[in-house]
Amino acid sequence: MTSRQRFLAACACAPLERPPIWVMRQAGRYLPEYRELKAKSSFLEMVRTPELALEVTLQPLRRFPGIDAAILFSDILVIPEALGQAYAFRDAGGIAMEYRIENRAQVDALRGPEAIAEKLAYVPAALRLIRRELADTKAVLGFGGSPWTLATYMVEGGSSDDFERIKLLFYTDRPLFDALLEKLTESLIAYFKLQIEAGADAIQIFDSWGGIIAGPDYEAASLQWIRRIVAALPADFPVILYAKGTSPHLTDQAFSGVRVVSIDWTADLAIARQNLPANVAVQGNLDPVLMQTTPDIVTREASRLLESMRGLNGHIFNLGHGITPRAKIECMASLVETVTGWKN
Ligand code: CP3
Repeated sequence: MTSRQRFLAACACAPLERPPIWVMRQAGRYLPEYRELKAKSSFLEMVRTPELALEVTLQPLRRFPGIDAAILFSDILVIPEALGQAYAFRDAGGIAMEYRIENRAQVDALRGPEAIAEKLAYVPAALRLIRRELADTKAVLGFGGSPWTLATYMVEGGSSDDFERIKLLFYTDRPLFDALLEKLTESLIAYFKLQIEAGADAIQIFDSWGGIIAGPDYEAASLQWIRRIVAALPADFPVILYAKGTSPHLTDQAFSGVRVVSIDWTADLAIARQNLPANVAVQGNLDPVLMQTTPDIVTREASRLLESMRGLNGHIFNLGHGITPRAKIECMASLVETVTGWKN
């Protein structure tokens, strides 16, 4: 069985001897070969140059050939940028958008789905290179932010501690909030269709800030837009939803049309698995900080998670969030070895 087959079988909740494994987002930073490339080109240059994006995408797979899926090297913020709101990295860490979205005229001035193919042609170009390089051996994942998570950056003007502006917009001017989210939703549909045409096997939607919404508002602020996106993609195409801090909404997420619900490290994965519909897979969920401990601790904790999932179908092994820049290579090696050596 190839990695790609194993990955797609896990999405379809088929019984497997072991779960597929891949590691989420910003996978580069802990690797010296990534830092070496980044010393020569900026992050955005690497994102916008298909040959460099290909190289960064393949780096973790070269080092850990047991990994079953490659995730496109890019960023969720290329969407606001394509619509007309550029971004940069703050020296102190975090994201700075070029300006804040504060009024109707600014939302109207943003471009929409028609801008996607024109501004983001480098994304399908990179995916085609990745697909050509990996052929059918590995699964290839495309991704994007959820409309809500992208809107937080656009309205807050970058990374935020309190998310007051986006919440105030949601509570006080729902028509304007909806107009912005509508534009993002339509643009993301166009974007994901491009990624699918270019060879993505699955799409992961990052609702990284879904967990800051008041519980009863999660549907209106975030999940309804995700549901619309999934409904607009080819029937049965595997969409993975990662939403940090949203354990109370796992059941609603499982009924949103996605094929895989990705779970952060705070939930008990086996309990989540047993409570969700049998045709929806789960992904997760080791605490990413474990990658800064020791190989023995990683083996112990990964085995514990695998043991808790024994006999349960529909599991993609992953961390509960992105790997941290201080992750140790020997810990990753021990993680990949433990999962790929596992027998259900
Ligand atoms: O594994 C991968 O590298 C896949 C590519 C990927 C990146 N970002 C590359 C990246 C993916 C899937 C993302 C997703 C992303 N980007 C999210 C959602 C995932 C999540 O964390 O919940 C978000 C919120 C972003 C926006 C973003 N981009 C942030 C908050 C940061 C960190 C800024 C900081 O303070 O350092 C980035 C930068 C970024 N995106 C890096 C990488 C490899 C690090 C750039 C570097 O320092 O070299």
